[in-house]
Formats: sequence, structure tokens, C-alpha cells
Amino acid sequence: MIPTIFAAGLTISLAYALPHAAVKRQVSELRSSYDFIIAGGGTSGLTVADRLTEAFPDKTVLVIEYGKVEYAPGMFDPPTAEWGGAGPRAGSFIFSSLPNPEVKNKTAFVLAGQAVGGSSCINGMFFDRGSRHDHDAWAKVASLDPDTGAVRWDWDGVFPYYKKSTKFTDPTPGVVTKYGYTWDRSAYGGTTPIYSSFPPFQWGDFHVAREAWKDMGIRVVDDCAGGDKDGICWVPTSQHPVTAMRSHSGLGHYADVESARPNYDLLVQHQVTRVVYTDGISSGPPLVEARSLIDDSMLNVTAKAEVVISAGALHTPTILQRSGIGPASFLKTADIPVVLDLPGVGSNFQDHSGPRMSWNYSRPGNFSNTPSDMLDPAYAAKAVADFNMVPALGPYTLAMGNTAIYVSLPNMTADYMAIIDKMRTMAADDSAGTYLPADSDPTLIAGYKRQLSVLADFLSNPQAPSLEVPFATGTGFVNINLHPLSRGTVRINPSNHLAQPILDYRTGSNPIDFDVYLAHLRYLRRTFTTPTMQKYGAAEVAPGASIQSDAALLEYTKETMGFSYMHPCCTAAMMPKHLGGVTGPDLKVHGAPGLRVVDISVLPFLTSSHTSSVAYAVGEKAADIIIEGWRE
Ligand SMILES: Cc1cc2nc3c(=O)[nH]c(=O)nc-3n(C[C@H](O)[C@H](O)[C@H](O)COP(=O)(O)OP(=O)(O)OC[C@H]3O[C@@H](n4cnc5c(N)ncnc54)[C@H](O)[C@@H]3O)c2cc1C
Ligand SMILES: *[C@@H]1O[C@H](CO)[C@@H](O)[C@H](O)[C@H]1NC(C)=O
Ligand SMILES: *[C@@H]1O[C@H](CO)[C@@H](O)[C@H](O)[C@H]1NC(C)=O
Ligand SMILES: *[C@@H]1O[C@H](CO)[C@@H](O)[C@H](O)[C@H]1NC(C)=O
Ligand SMILES: *[C@@H]1O[C@H](CO)[C@@H](O)[C@H](O)[C@H]1NC(C)=O
Ligand SMILES: *[C@@H]1O[C@H](CO)[C@@H](O)[C@H](O)[C@H]1NC(C)=O
Repeated sequence: MIPTIFAAGLTISLAYALPHAAVKRQVSELRSSYDFIIAGGGTSGLTVADRLTEAFPDKTVLVIEYGKVEYAPGMFDPPTAEWGGAGPRAGSFIFSSLPNPEVKNKTAFVLAGQAVGGSSCINGMFFDRGSRHDHDAWAKVASLDPDTGAVRWDWDGVFPYYKKSTKFTDPTPGVVTKYGYTWDRSAYGGTTPIYSSFPPFQWGDFHVAREAWKDMGIRVVDDCAGGDKDGICWVPTSQHPVTAMRSHSGLGHYADVESARPNYDLLVQHQVTRVVYTDGISSGPPLVEARSLIDDSMLNVTAKAEVVISAGALHTPTILQRSGIGPASFLKTADIPVVLDLPGVGSNFQDHSGPRMSWNYSRPGNFSNTPSDMLDPAYAAKAVADFNMVPALGPYTLAMGNTAIYVSLPNMTADYMAIIDKMRTMAADDSAGTYLPADSDPTLIAGYKRQLSVLADFLSNPQAPSLEVPFATGTGFVNINLHPLSRGTVRINPSNHLAQPILDYRTGSNPIDFDVYLAHLRYLRRTFTTPTMQKYGAAEVAPGASIQSDAALLEYTKETMGFSYMHPCCTAAMMPKHLGGVTGPDLKVHGAPGLRVVDISVLPFLTSSHTSSVAYAVGEKAADIIIEGWRE
């Protein structure tokens, strides 16, 4: 293969250092070829780039990123963001999903990061981790031989990478006393500048839900980052412990990298269009083709060692599909020559989902510090001034809050076995396939049955969370179904391959999910009758006292369903090929030499957590796998 760049009308916009950059790594032009090319400079992609350039000073790495290097304003980013809103949208891909027929034809509003740092630049900074049981279940579908395989994705195989991926800082004693934060140092230990910390602020009513949940008998867990995650948790925030500024991979794994890295190149504002096996699929690594978003010119770059796709769950499948790697039937519809029939690409699409609840108080607690105080100009101005102090203080340090419950199905309902039995039946008979998209390949159906069986074991475990409810302030809850069984698709637009993909969520397409949403609602509404809530005269507003029957609750659930919590995943799942998987435990794409996927797409199913910590841990573990492979 000729290691050359072919560039038509070459306008290469190379990344300039971020404001906080400690290292100069500007390059005047791209090299003729690279050892490693990473498609997508997001949460996982930059983690890999950082580790590879560190481990191999003599090997070169090119990251090709769609977005700009400038900081993308994210959710809760102080103090310019709209208060409580998602902030400006520069630096985001913005999607509206297809209408979802099972939930009143509603569409999901979905964002994904489009910047150096990816979604870690714009997310809610809620920095919890998967539970031990999530990873043990993942390992059971990732490979048929999870215990003896060289690469293990069970808890023991992933926990060291969760630890390595962040630098945790203890909160100050004053803050600990004030809010009662607890944590377990042994769950942390990393030194990389992806910060995890507890904010020095809480709203005046922060304790209400926590106390009410204790009244319900939910146990308090000292730290939920160590694998044990059923109960009431304090959740760290991905922000700097002193400045409270967002910590993201564009800083921690690029701009703030400490040592000089002349081998680390970053090309921004380029869309990786596809990878090309110029001498046939057996001849990897493939060539990487990219398009300039500035002048539309095309560019080919060759990798000597490997190509890693890290474009996130909504875009990784688009690169593969444009490359002719995907479900053959769909590729034909889109008029793309089939290079490799891999039905799992863009299938198995999942996100967290769930209905809302709200209440009111007849005897409110006269709480000082509530979000409505921000309407007072003096309070709001002080909030900005406090944030700019060193160390930062006040409301802007809190982001979306940092407490939540995680509760298992057996702890919520005595009838949980009815749900589990339905899952086991579906996993065993031939009905499972009828809940997948109509054109699903038999391997996908086989893999789905395997997932249902493993998830049935998982959901019957009293320590394995099914429901998450975060709380920071106010009179509303979201009931997050952590393990939905419905599966959607992410596919390129057949008539415009380079446009944004089409998201078909299919939320509720597996009817068992509705049994779970109802169990969650029935359980959580007990919160309002607890002594703590009754002290303030709490009354359920929604669903409301009149909504009691299954039929009424089902209708309510469909009406209020939120079906993206911005955790899209699983569209290039780590499962065997005959079970509809896309990658192996080594993250190599089945049947495509020199090509790996490393991002949140490789999860077989969602973890009991928000997903940024998982994207970092996947990046860290993948980097070790790749480094080990090339050391030999
Ligand atoms: C609004 C929002 C709020 C969230 N809140 C939280 C939260 O509070 N806590 C939490 O833990 N998680 C949260 N998440 C989820 C979490 O941030 C993501 O799951 C995680 O960051 C995904 O990492 P990734 O590496 O898979 O993808 P990303 O970090 O999204 O990286 C993908 C990168 O690839 C680039 N790209 C895409 N297509 C191409 C292409 N064709 N060529 C080149 N580059 C390309 C993108 O621009 C992006 O930079 C949130 C996400 C969003 C969007
Ligand atoms: C990139 O490579 C592909 C496959 O060989 C080729 O079709 C395309 O023309 C090349 N593009 C450029 C800009 O050289
Ligand atoms: C959803 O849209 C489809 C197609 O337009 C229509 O047939 C169906 O009746 C709609 N369902 C609801 C609940 O509105
Ligand atoms: C759930 O039930 C199990 C078994 O009774 C118990 O050990 C666990 O503490 C309970 N979890 C919560 C969150 O209450
Ligand atoms: C609280 O909501 C209930 C149910 O909607 C309503 O009947 C009641 O009047 C409300 N109470 C207050 C204090 O607003
Ligand atoms: C809140 O303040 C009002 C007026 O000062 C008082 O009447 C009420 O009892 C207080 N409520 C509580 C729960 O303390």
C-alpha cells in the first residue's frame, strides 16, 4: 500500500491549542501516513489517542474530528448558559428522532457533542459508574467464553479502568459536614486530569428526597462507584475540584496532556466519510477517507497499524455503513456496495427512558436557596461572583445535582417474577424476533434472545438496579428505566449518506418495558406518603390520585415518556458475530482487519448509569488492549 495523502483542493485546518493548552502540538501539515488513525475526537477517542501517544513515542497518531477545537458550551456551563437550560447549541449535533408509534408518535430530542472532547464537552457532568452486575452481565454476552477469554469485560476486568480514568479529589471537611457527603477512596486512584469531585453547594431542599427515600427503607450506600450500587448514592461531578469548571476529554486527554507529544496530531472540522479496503476486505488496515467541512474537499489518509472508529453511538454506525460494512439488505436499499454483511451495525440501539412524576407541598419548608432565587438579580449576580471565586462556590458549581437512588426490581414489587417470567419465555420461544425491526437478520434475533436471558437473570437480582431517580431540588422526578428491552436502529439517510443519520428509537416496542415503567411509577409514588414528605404536606400531582388502574397508568406513561436521556449506545455491540455482534472483546470489528470500534457503541446493553464514565473506561481498556497488541 502506498502511504500517501491524496488531497484534492487541500485545505487542512489543523487544531490550534485550546486556551488551557500546556503543550504545543500544532503541525503545519499532515504526515504522509500514520500508525494509528482515530475517527472521532470525543470521550473515548481522545482517551485512546492520549494513551497511544504516551506509550509509543515513536508511533504517530492522527485524530480526525468533525467539530471544532473551541470549547463547546454545554449543559449547565456557567455562567453563560441559560439557567437550568441546556445552554447554547454550538458544538452539538441536534437530532429529532422518527415519531415513535408506541408512545403517541412523539419524537425524541437528542444532542451529541461535536467538538474536540465530544459529548463530554456538553453533558450534564453526572459522573456515576456502572454497577458490578452490569459488567458481569455484559461479559456474559460479549463472548461465549467470558471466564477464560484473554480480555474480560466483567466487573473485575473493567473496575481498574474506571479507577484509572479519573482523578478524584476529596471534598473539603466543611462541605462534608454541611451536606453529609460520603465516598470510598478505594474506588478511585487515577491521576489523569479527568476530574471527579463533589460540589460545594446544594439547594435548600436537597435533603427532602434523600430523607424520604430513607423513610422508604432504601439503604444508603457510602460510595456507589465501587460496584455496589443499589441504594441512595452521592454521585461525583466531572468538574475541577477548585474551579468547578467542566472537565472533559478535550482538556484531560488533549490540551492538558503534560508531556510534549510531537506524535499526536489532530485534524478538526473533517468528517470521516468511510474507510476503504483498497485491496479487498482481507487486507487491513483500511484507508480513511474524510471530507473537509470548510471547503468540501476530500482527503485520504493511510494507517500503517490500525484504524479506530470512535464517533459515538450515533455516528460510528454511519461511518461503517458508508464503508459498506453493515446489514446487506439495508446497504442495498441505500445503494451502497456491500463490502461486509454485518447486520449488527446500527442495530441494538438503546437509550434510557421513562415517565415523569410531580408533587406539591401544602406546607412548604421555607427553604433558603432555591432555583427561583436566581430570578432575583442580586442573588443571580452573587451566584456568578461566587463561581468566579477561587475556590468556586455557589449554585453554578452544582450542575445537574449529585444524588440519586438506584433500585432493583425485586426491591420494588413483589410481582417482579411475573416480569422476569415473561422475559424468560420470550428468550426461549420464537416471539422475541417479532419485537425487533421487521428486517432483522436471524443472528440479531439470536443475540436478542441471549440478551433477554442474561437481562432476566440481572433484573431478578435484588442488588442489580432497574430504576434510577436523580434529585437536586424542586417537586419533580424522572423515573429512568435503566435497562429497556426495546431495540431501535441508527441508519444513514439512504438518499443523503453524508447527512445526519435517522434515529428510530422504537421505545416501547417490547411491551415488557411498559410493565417495568408501571412498576417504577407505583413504587416511586410511595415517596409522597413518607413522613418526610408529609411533614411538608406533599401531594402527588402527576400521575395524580385518580390515575390508579394499569390502563390509566399506561396511558399516563405514554403521555409523559421521555425517551432520550442523551445516553444513546450499543449500535456496534460487543457480541459474537453469530449473535448479531459487531466487535469482539478485543474491540476488533468482526471480519474487518485493522479496524476497531472504541466508544459507547460497543456496549451490548446499557449500564445502570449515565454513560460518560463508561466511555472513558472503554477508552482506557481499549488503549491497553491495543498497546499490548503492538508491543509484542
Ligand atoms: C446533552 C448530553 C447530556 C449528557 N449528560 C450526561 C451526564 O450527565 N453524565 C454522563 O455520564 N453522561 C452524559 N451524557 C452521555 C455521555 O456524555 C456520552 O455517552 C459519552 O460522552 C459518549 O462518548 P463517546 O466517546 O462514545 O462519543 P462522543 O464523546 O460523542 O464522541 C464522538 C466524537 O466523534 C465526532 N464525530 C462524529 N462523527 C464523525 C465523523 N464522521 N468524523 C469525525 N468525527 C466524527 C463527534 O464530533 C464527537 O466529537 C450526556 C450526553 C449528552 C449529549
Ligand atoms: C480516496 O481513495 C478512494 C479509494 O481508493 C478513491 O476512490 C478516492 O478517489 C480517493 N480520494 C482522493 C481525494 O484521493
Ligand atoms: C402515529 O402515526 C401513524 C402514521 O402516521 C398513524 O397511523 C397512527 O395513527 C399515529 N398514532 C397515534 C397514536 O397518533
Ligand atoms: C434490596 O433488597 C435486598 C435483599 O432484601 C437488600 O439486601 C438491599 O439492601 C435492598 N436494597 C435497597 C436499595 O433497599
Ligand atoms: C396539590 O395538588 C393537588 C392535586 O393536583 C391539588 O388537589 C392541591 O390543591 C394542590 N395543593 C396545593 C397546595 O397546591
Ligand atoms: C414557613 O413560614 C411561614 C411564614 O413565616 C410559617 O407560617 C410556616 O409555619 C413556615 N413553615 C414551615 C414548614 O416551617
